[in-house]
Amino acid sequence: MKLENPEDQIYVLERGNDAVHVMKSIILSGMKEDAFYVLDIGEIVRKYEEWKVKLPRVEPYYAVKCNDSQMVLEVLAALGTGFDCASKGEINKVLSLGVDPSRIIYANPAKPISHIRYASEYGIDTMTFDNEMELQKVKQFHPNAQLVIRIRCDAEVAQCQLGMKFGCDPITEAPRLLRLAKSLGLDVIGVSFHVGSGCGDPPVFGRAIYSARQIFDLGNSLGFHMRVLDLGGGYPGYTGYSMNRIAEIINISLDEYFPVEEGVSIIAEPGRYFVASAFTLATLIHSKRDILGDSESEVPSHTMYYINDGVYGSFNCIIYDHAVCTPIPFNILDSPDDFAYRETLIPSSVWGPTCDGLDKVNDDILLPEMPVGSWLIYRDMGAYTLPVASTFNGYPIPKVHAVIEEHVWMMLKDRLPLTGDHFIKDNSLQSVRNDSWDELPHMLDDYEDIIPYSSYVGEVASTN
Ligand SMILES: Cc1ncc(COP(=O)(O)O)c(C=O)c1O
Repeated sequence: MKLENPEDQIYVLERGNDAVHVMKSIILSGMKEDAFYVLDIGEIVRKYEEWKVKLPRVEPYYAVKCNDSQMVLEVLAALGTGFDCASKGEINKVLSLGVDPSRIIYANPAKPISHIRYASEYGIDTMTFDNEMELQKVKQFHPNAQLVIRIRCDAEVAQCQLGMKFGCDPITEAPRLLRLAKSLGLDVIGVSFHVGSGCGDPPVFGRAIYSARQIFDLGNSLGFHMRVLDLGGGYPGYTGYSMNRIAEIINISLDEYFPVEEGVSIIAEPGRYFVASAFTLATLIHSKRDILGDSESEVPSHTMYYINDGVYGSFNCIIYDHAVCTPIPFNILDSPDDFAYRETLIPSSVWGPTCDGLDKVNDDILLPEMPVGSWLIYRDMGAYTLPVASTFNGYPIPKVHAVIEEHVWMMLKDRLPLTGDHFIKDNSLQSVRNDSWDELPHMLDDYEDIIPYSSYVGEVASTN
């Protein structure tokens, strides 16, 4: 597949380098001002491998809404995942990668008619529903659809609950809907649920699988051939997260309620699991304000830092995804537990770049005193960040620099839709850096009374 946008290229790392090295290299070049991401493709591949080992019976259909970056979709397509699409736009994006329509589930229980027609035209047959009107629409605009009934089963603890919006009650609503589907001559092939995104209640998967079993039995007794169980999303994906507990509960429940011999196809719709830890965001402190305790005091009681990405950009996740984003000062990236650093912490807050008072990234946290021109790094920024970000107040959406370790590249490079054109391989980081240069050095010439930004970078460099 030919690359339309050269920004979608992936930089192949020299042996011994990693994503953090690239981030440091871009920052230390002293030529970068805008916030930017480093995407570690190897992290997505590692997640995929972990999934295959821990949930061997479950085929992942990546939830595109979580992060629809072209590179993420291409890598997952190359690995062979399916895709959960929420709209015609997402379906179109996935089909344009050459993904077969049979690898797509249209998993939005409330679909505009034109999107249902589009799905029908392009052979996307598998789709979810949870209400009567949806069945009527499908009957009219995609009568050959293979329908999956979405039931409600909510986690007691989740980062984002979804049950208040989607999922019919398995006892009071599902039987009536299945009967209606039968009377309309529609084909119901399975059951789905979504326990809530960022699930902190692993046993809910056991409860949901049990509930799905009841609906399977009812569906089969009504004459449907029930053959797909969709476990939805909900699997956390932050650095260091262990999938073990959820996987254990899912595997035990599947063996009990959906034994292999029955031949039911088990799928899931993980979003954040695949991408959260793969994206690291670097932001620049471009301004700061010291709040003095009283008029006599020389010592600030609080420092406000202003960075070049905020809640209208990547950090929209704080509002919409209830995310907590923790900054790491660039110069202690390698040693966040350094004792000397802890001694110097002062009460601080971190603010986004727009003129809105709501645009606050971190409230009341302890940070070392940092000059303008310092960088703050945020890990685990891959889920529900970029697709929602806007350019409000004229601030650009951070660019993504994708990198891949050589051994991962060797494994992926010939797998479609990836091709030789997708990768840049040279032995310096020049191509990544060139790509990153802004107009910054010229801008700084205009400010006589602040220390040039590049000397801050010099300071940072000497501490590393
Ligand atoms: C239908 C559906 N499937 C999957 C997902 C992905 O969820 P997660 O990122 O928690 O895995 C979502 C998220 O909202 C969703 O609405």
